[in-house]
Amino acid sequence: MWPDQRIQGLFGIELPIIQAPMAGSVGSDMVIAVSEAGGLGSLPCAMLSPEQMRNEFGIIRQRTSRPINLNFFCHQPPQADPARENAWKQRLESYYIELGLDPQAPVPAAARAPFDSAMCDLVEGFRPEVVSFRFGLAGRALLERVRGMGAKIISSATTVDEARWLEDQGCDAIIAQGHEAGGHRGVFLTNDISTQAGTMALVPQVVDAVKVPVIAAGGIADARGIVAAFALGASAVQIGTAYLFCPEAKVSPLHRDALKQAKDNDTVLTNVFTGRPARGIVNRIVREVGPMSDLAPEFPLAAGALAPLRAKAETIGSGDFSPLWSGQAAAFGRAILAGDLTRQLGAESLSHLTRLGRADSPRSA
Ligand SMILES: Cc1cc2nc3c(=O)[nH]c(=O)nc-3n(C[C@H](O)[C@H](O)[C@H](O)COP(=O)(O)O)c2cc1C
Repeated sequence: MWPDQRIQGLFGIELPIIQAPMAGSVGSDMVIAVSEAGGLGSLPCAMLSPEQMRNEFGIIRQRTSRPINLNFFCHQPPQADPARENAWKQRLESYYIELGLDPQAPVPAAARAPFDSAMCDLVEGFRPEVVSFRFGLAGRALLERVRGMGAKIISSATTVDEARWLEDQGCDAIIAQGHEAGGHRGVFLTNDISTQAGTMALVPQVVDAVKVPVIAAGGIADARGIVAAFALGASAVQIGTAYLFCPEAKVSPLHRDALKQAKDNDTVLTNVFTGRPARGIVNRIVREVGPMSDLAPEFPLAAGALAPLRAKAETIGSGDFSPLWSGQAAAFGRAILAGDLTRQLGAESLSHLTRLGRADSPRSA
């Protein structure tokens, strides 16, 4: 029996396991598999065109009637800064020349748009059970529309201040994202990532600070991590990196290989891929240009000049310029179907909890 069932009750799911939305790496197949297994499948929408969103929503509703989470970004659109973008191109110029690319070619657009009214129209047609945001929350009017659809609203906090802010804005639950987490930090009230807490320290402090249920995220990839999150007061977990190993994940063979080999100390927070700090496996561009570069243009603009390098390098089997996103617990990854992973994590956590319960009972003494 799960010690806390508030998230299951709130979202209408069987297992307190949320597959993290992972922009660029998760599509409808994984979402359907996780929700059908009793967890909460999350579709990342930030990098999808309206047509792709409509298509993915249609596939999901055809294949499952279980609760689903749609995820969007809420960053401030970047201010154009030609001088900085030029300095970034110059910093990357030697790599363009090395790979036989034209450094003067126009920089491709970096596709990550914040949640807006047009996206909200599409979401109204889908009527998801949960909508999650990253980098804060959408504006009041848009939030009201999401609430009006009957969707529960959640977002990520990386500090206690952010968690309190999200609760004040009416979030139904809060994801406490520890420093260990793969991908971008959800940070939005500060730019200082050097002071951010790990999951072990952050989750109980957020639990103490807010009344709504807390979802633990960051470095959780097996039953031990899930049970620990409950011991810290979380009501559910959000798991990203462990789902990247599943065959449904849209992950290049290069990224998959890097994940398989990743150890506890192979990842770092870097801004070189998008302009915002994100955790990934150290590779050449991170080592030589980062991990944090003052030259990287504002999110998501830094990604533009990186894109041709990544594409060209990948054609010759090199991941030197690819973001190899990963949290600190990739070592626990299992290359099994997402539905099986969800069911296994659920069953293993329950038997772990039962064992701990027995150890705690006076009769076992
Ligand atoms: C490849 C990757 C992409 C991610 N993309 C998103 C995203 O689009 N939206 C979001 O809210 N979180 C995103 N995250 C962060 C996750 O929601 C979550 O906080 C993180 O994966 C938890 O840590 P873990 O990877 O150690 O399990 C991403 C994480 C990864 C690894």
